[in-house]
Amino acid sequence: MKALTWQGRRDVSVRDVPDPRIEQPTDAVIKVTSTAICGSDLHLYEVLGPFLTPGDVLGHEAMGIVEEVGSDVRGITVGDRVVIPFNISCGSCWMCRRGFYAQCETTQVRQQGKGAALFGYTSLYGSVPGGQAEYLRVPQAHFGPIPVPDGAPDERFLFLSDILPTAWQGVQYAELDEGQTLAVVGLGPVGQLAARIGRRAGLRVIGLDRVPERLALARSWGVEDIDIDQFGSVDETADAILSLTSGRGADGVVEAVGMEAHGSPVAEAAIRGAGLLPDVVAKPLIEHVAVDRLAALLVAIKGVRRGGTVSALGVYGGKVDPLPLMEVVDRGIGLRFGQCHVRRWTDDLLAILSEDDDVLGVESLPTHTLPLEQAPAAYEMFQKKRDGCVKVVLKP
Ligand SMILES: NC(=O)c1ccc[n+]([C@@H]2O[C@H](COP(=O)([O-])OP(=O)(O)OC[C@H]3O[C@@H](n4cnc5c(N)ncnc54)[C@H](O)[C@@H]3O)[C@@H](O)[C@H]2O)c1
Ligand SMILES: [Zn+2]
Ligand SMILES: [Zn+2]
Repeated sequence: MKALTWQGRRDVSVRDVPDPRIEQPTDAVIKVTSTAICGSDLHLYEVLGPFLTPGDVLGHEAMGIVEEVGSDVRGITVGDRVVIPFNISCGSCWMCRRGFYAQCETTQVRQQGKGAALFGYTSLYGSVPGGQAEYLRVPQAHFGPIPVPDGAPDERFLFLSDILPTAWQGVQYAELDEGQTLAVVGLGPVGQLAARIGRRAGLRVIGLDRVPERLALARSWGVEDIDIDQFGSVDETADAILSLTSGRGADGVVEAVGMEAHGSPVAEAAIRGAGLLPDVVAKPLIEHVAVDRLAALLVAIKGVRRGGTVSALGVYGGKVDPLPLMEVVDRGIGLRFGQCHVRRWTDDLLAILSEDDDVLGVESLPTHTLPLEQAPAAYEMFQKKRDGCVKVVLKP
């Protein structure tokens, strides 16, 4: 089959790879009908290369039609239309029973000291071949796949795989009541959906980014936007949130940027350096030292009010990046991090998506729908934010 493979830093290509097949009784194989590129894939494209091997199949946002199921798979059958959560969870271990699906103890990648295995996300997360491909082997298929109804286009349901539940969890974890103010730092696909979820919950939403069309899109959903390029520093940017909130700060902040945030020149040089170093030197640098550009997280911490919560969705890597802990303690800020427990939220979200109107605008979120063969150009366009690109859906 054809699949999008990682070959090196900023180098991905569509190659022929072996067809996936059932390896465990709990596996399924799906024929992928739609698969998206995520901001998390951009970390693989740019900085997490040392944890990839040339030929690794990328992608963790996929849906399709069940082609084959293992003997222990119940709940889905051949021909069903399903969306595949990006984290692989068993549904019945200690963590899964408590809804912590991103920490599933059955699929945890213990030799790397990491949580649940993920599709298409490096040796740190189990080197599981991803879904930017014609077919996908789905482990733990008795639990993971989300059956979705026929009728609406794939784009209605595809984002259940990751960015919609991620945005939802981000807003839940910000712990806000109707009428309160949510700031969303970063208006990529995740931030856009977090902002819409916030508006739907009756929140006032302030959104920050630097890409004009992303700011405009958020505005069209009732978001008060702040262009971070107007400001020269983290403090000035956070002050812009304070000045919109009587000097107090937002009641809660969702951070949806991650480790490649714009506006941290020193770390920017380090991150670029890490991408060029031999793997043996770069791996410890990424895992144990500091490669993160923290500008967005710092704006979130400084822009939240005393006693408020920063709900960080962005993916970070290092260990010793300086954080203003005295400020966090003095101002009594709650911090939440982590990957989305996808399955925990998908029943609620499926109910919203099944309403007649596309209330969260998911069908129109993709700005580009392209054949899988064009994935390499699509990665570059999405990373550079060219051609108004907000979200790419690939059709294998
Ligand atoms: N926690 C999870 O389970 C989970 C799931 C999906 C994605 N993510 C992470 O969420 C983040 C966002 O994903 P995305 O798909 O929306 O990616 P994206 O790269 O398209 O969006 C990031 C946005 O942040 C903006 N930005 C950059 N620096 C900024 C700054 N200093 N202040 C404000 N905005 C800034 C960019 O212009 C861009 O629009 C990524 O780090 C991704 O890895 C996490
Ligand atoms: Zn994703
Ligand atoms: Zn589990």
